[in-house]
Amino acid sequence: MRIGIPRESRPGETLVAATATTAAQLAALGYDVVVERGAGAGAAQPDTAYADAGVALGSADDVWSSDVVVKVNAPTDEEVARLRPGSTVVGLMAPARSPELVDRLAAQGVTALAMDAVPRISRAQSMDVLSSMANVAGYRAVIEAAHEFGRLFTGQVTAAGKVPPARVFVVGAGVAGLAAIGAAGSLGAVVRAFDVRPEVAEQVESMGAQFVTVDMEQEVSADGYAKEMTAEQEAATAAMYDEEARAADIVITTALIPGRPAPLLVTAETVAAMRPGSVVVDMAAANGGNVAATVADERVVTANGVTVLGYTDLAGRLAAQTSQLYGTNVVNLLRLLTPGKDGVLVLDLDDVVQRGITVTRDGATMWPPPPVQVSAAAGAPAPAAPEPAPAKAPPDPRRRLYAAGLAAVLFLALATAAPASFLPSLTVFVLAVVIGFYVIGNVHHALHTPLMSVTNAISGIIVVGAILQAPSADPVVQVIAGIAVLLASINVFGGFTVTRRMLNMFAKD
Ligand SMILES: NC(=O)c1ccc[n+]([C@@H]2O[C@H](COP(=O)([O-])OP(=O)(O)OC[C@H]3O[C@@H](n4cnc5c(N)ncnc54)[C@H](O)[C@@H]3O)[C@@H](O)[C@H]2O)c1
Repeated sequence: MRIGIPRESRPGETLVAATATTAAQLAALGYDVVVERGAGAGAAQPDTAYADAGVALGSADDVWSSDVVVKVNAPTDEEVARLRPGSTVVGLMAPARSPELVDRLAAQGVTALAMDAVPRISRAQSMDVLSSMANVAGYRAVIEAAHEFGRLFTGQVTAAGKVPPARVFVVGAGVAGLAAIGAAGSLGAVVRAFDVRPEVAEQVESMGAQFVTVDMEQEVSADGYAKEMTAEQEAATAAMYDEEARAADIVITTALIPGRPAPLLVTAETVAAMRPGSVVVDMAAANGGNVAATVADERVVTANGVTVLGYTDLAGRLAAQTSQLYGTNVVNLLRLLTPGKDGVLVLDLDDVVQRGITVTRDGATMWPPPPVQVSAAAGAPAPAAPEPAPAKAPPDPRRRLYAAGLAAVLFLALATAAPASFLPSLTVFVLAVVIGFYVIGNVHHALHTPLMSVTNAISGIIVVGAILQAPSADPVVQVIAGIAVLLASINVFGGFTVTRRMLNMFAKD
């Protein structure tokens, strides 16, 4: 099968769906790959780069007559008309917001796969172009802000005086927000961030920023996405947004609720109260914006000297990087769609990822796909906790005392009744129980399985002990030794088998 990579037709588009590296990777899957001449020019991928990588260059007709056409933006009407019936087109399509496009693709008799519909599940992360683009865009938002801001980001003490660090406030700690936090922090700014999902606080803090808390009911999300705020939540956060934005030099907003217009969070009054020279980057501009003063794709300077950037092409402003990541996401998708690595695309609609991105198949409309149970972004989806945790009552300290007393009495009783030779073994056993209890009790649950392989290896000691006992003349001892060797061996080898299976889950094919 032939894969065609066209030149993007959207005015000003810099991105290309395959760089020289990723085009060669597509060829390695058994496909003939043809790239339209000049397609990579905006992403620092001249035709010579493709030629050097052994990738064929061709005309627009060569590309659009291919079996599979891979592009970045949704195909225009003219482009849909150029697709061969029975062929496959892959790209960003926003199918939920573009019913006319879905109809046109179906009428053309093609199979359309939407890269922006990849479900946010762990297995599909390597194909998630929206995350790739949001990550680059979050970084670029900080660079744009730094470019507009008339001062340093980092604090300094110089001979000419003290320079305070810039204060950055990030709204929404999803992919773009976390990337912005990382970039601003690494430039030396003091970063504060807020998100309606309380479970991201840990991620924000692990990146060196301070998570802003608001006194309101907040629910841990079950699927990694925020829900619309209640009136009470809106009222509680409005004051915080106002206070934080006034105190900040830079505000970067990324708040998004899937399938909804962007929530308006920073009002015109708040922007009007910000210091002159402050900068706001509204990353949600394409969806209506989180800031009142935003104009999509524009740089607005307010009457009080605040610059508000509503650029919607932040990822495209780092075209080489974004094209490389997009191209890699495409390669990962085609790896999934080419099980035989023989250049033959096979669409398996029983697979949730493949079903999730299929908009049309050979002319039949497949949109919308059945819902996919996505995993929470961080932390376990907690059962709805409507009340601010009625603080779990601390365990009664007397209970521990009673338990320790009882154990001591039992130990003394056993020590008096048992033969003297048994006492050292009993002491070791009791100490092992106490130490084991505290060591394992302090190990995070997620690490219990790997820990098991270590503890199971300790069973090897039982095997050694049993083998030493086996030559005993007493048949009862011999039987017990045999059972001990058998059970301990199951424990040792079983533990390693489980650990191996776990490690295989992380191994690349
Ligand atoms: N401008 C560009 O060039 C560009 C490029 C890529 C992405 N984006 C945009 O950036 C935004 C973020 O993208 P993402 O991939 O990080 O999305 P995401 O879903 O990963 O993150 C959005 C975050 O906003 C949070 N949120 C929702 N409502 C909120 C509220 N009222 N207050 C605080 N936080 C709230 C959510 O909990 C979530 O963590 C989107 O609007 C996306 O379209 C813009």
